[in-house]
Amino acid sequence: MDTQKQKELMISWLKDACAMEKKLEETLETYAKGAEDYPQLQEKLKEHISVTKNQQERLEARLEALGESVSAMRMETEKIMGKMAGAGTSIGFGEDSVVKNSVLAFSAEYMEIGSYTAIATVAKAIDDQETVELVNEIITEEQAMADWAESHLAELVKEFLQKEE
Ligand SMILES: [Fe+2]
Repeated sequence: MDTQKQKELMISWLKDACAMEKKLEETLETYAKGAEDYPQLQEKLKEHISVTKNQQERLEARLEALGESVSAMRMETEKIMGKMAGAGTSIGFGEDSVVKNSVLAFSAEYMEIGSYTAIATVAKAIDDQETVELVNEIITEEQAMADWAESHLAELVKEFLQKEE
């Protein structure tokens, strides 16, 4: 694949990533609202919502620097979001929703890490160091959230089991 084509691909993946973060922001908002009985979880979710918003801003700034128009992109984002319904983006409403949503949020972090790893690889291939640095920073943030989720999931399930007995 020639360099120009790789660059176009990287830009389209960055746009998808922007849409993914926007969708996850909405999902996390709903999820955080439903976690009022789990203050530690709720606080962590709120923290990750602001991280997610900040990631969108940095992705948009990078896309702008690559010559993309942010307003046109936002319209595209809406379209991509409309098509996105799957891993890590659905919400449960049952009595066990706090557990199910935690599992989904956990998996969403790895979906994000996978997406950014793909972007980092193409960015490296075309020697776009700024994009490499940006997505590596984001990967570190997502990994921190994934680690938190991994180390707290069992406790959360135990807490849930005690509350619902
Ligand atoms: Fe994210």
